[in-house]
Amino acid sequence: MFGIDLGTTNTLIYKKGEGVIINEPSVLAFNKKTGEVVAIGNEARYMQGKTPSHIQVTRPIKNGVINDFEVAEIMLSHFFSTIKKGIWSFIFKPNILAGMPSNLTEVEKGSIEDVLKDVGFGKVILIENLLAGAIGAGSPIQESTGSLIVNIGGGTTEMGLVSMGGLVLKNTLNIAGDKIDHDIMDYIRDKYKLLISQRAAENLKIEIGSAIKLKEKINFTLSGRDAVKGIPKEIVVTDTDVREAISDSLNAIRDAVSDMLYQIPPELSGDLLYHNIIITGGGSLLKGFPEFLQEKIEIKVRLADDPLTSVSRGHGMILENYNEMKKML
Ligand SMILES: Nc1ncnc2c1ncn2[C@@H]1O[C@H](COP(=O)(O)OP(=O)(O)OP(=O)(O)O)[C@@H](O)[C@H]1O
Ligand SMILES: [Mg+2]
Repeated sequence: MFGIDLGTTNTLIYKKGEGVIINEPSVLAFNKKTGEVVAIGNEARYMQGKTPSHIQVTRPIKNGVINDFEVAEIMLSHFFSTIKKGIWSFIFKPNILAGMPSNLTEVEKGSIEDVLKDVGFGKVILIENLLAGAIGAGSPIQESTGSLIVNIGGGTTEMGLVSMGGLVLKNTLNIAGDKIDHDIMDYIRDKYKLLISQRAAENLKIEIGSAIKLKEKINFTLSGRDAVKGIPKEIVVTDTDVREAISDSLNAIRDAVSDMLYQIPPELSGDLLYHNIIITGGGSLLKGFPEFLQEKIEIKVRLADDPLTSVSRGHGMILENYNEMKKML
């Protein structure tokens, strides 16, 4: 049995008994003239922003939802091609646990099931990313005490209150890593008249981005295309620039968490004082983010270990203890 975290930015596949066997960007590059697939995953991501005009780099998942079914199927067939051997046949199809955002429509859920069945799976069992992420982060989800989990991914920020193996409250925002990258692109264009790719903006975010003021000022040399003259140009930006660029998005995330705290049923709200708020997902790795969140909500915020793999490791914990855990699916 397998588990898949089909994310906007990254796809992780867990195989029971083995662990995380695929961890690659959800990206595909194809030749527009011939229709041929040129690269998938890491290799395709590396090409982003560098390809000639006939090579298109595309991401089939948008805000956690399958946006391009055909591309998603090609990408997944490729990821599973190295695994598809041995007992896998037309007669025996393994089952798969598939992660999904909490706000999907029935049609969107159906398309995750369909794509995985097309790739060769038998039963597709859907599980909300928040639950899997909470399990992966070691939260006591089966207990009757409430714990709050916030997952900041590439396309969505999800937050939820978990109690007795289910989600008591949940909320999904389309403000996450991609939006933050675009905030940076817009800011650099407006302030420095420089056009940069999303990949460059993401790199800038990871290198010098922060949610709170840093102890030391960091400068970063950035190259791109002059928005007016169209020629290559180099500028120096600071951590303050990036903080300014992304502050609206970060405030929106923090406000949503704070709003959720007000909605918590009184029977559960006291528990949060004894537990932490757990943050997972790649976006939670932004420097100073836990402190930024904690500043307003006054409940201890804990960054999950290895937040980029929490959901997939949660799938793993379910798969490895399936008989005990299946009741919550
Ligand atoms: N060190 C870092 N600082 C800030 N952001 C980071 C860092 N490392 C990764 N990210 C961001 O994390 C995001 C990817 O996180 P993750 O893999 O959890 O998303 P996903 O599961 O693919 O997306 P979603 O759950 O929204 O569908 C990207 O936007 C990436 O830029
Ligand atoms: Mg995710």
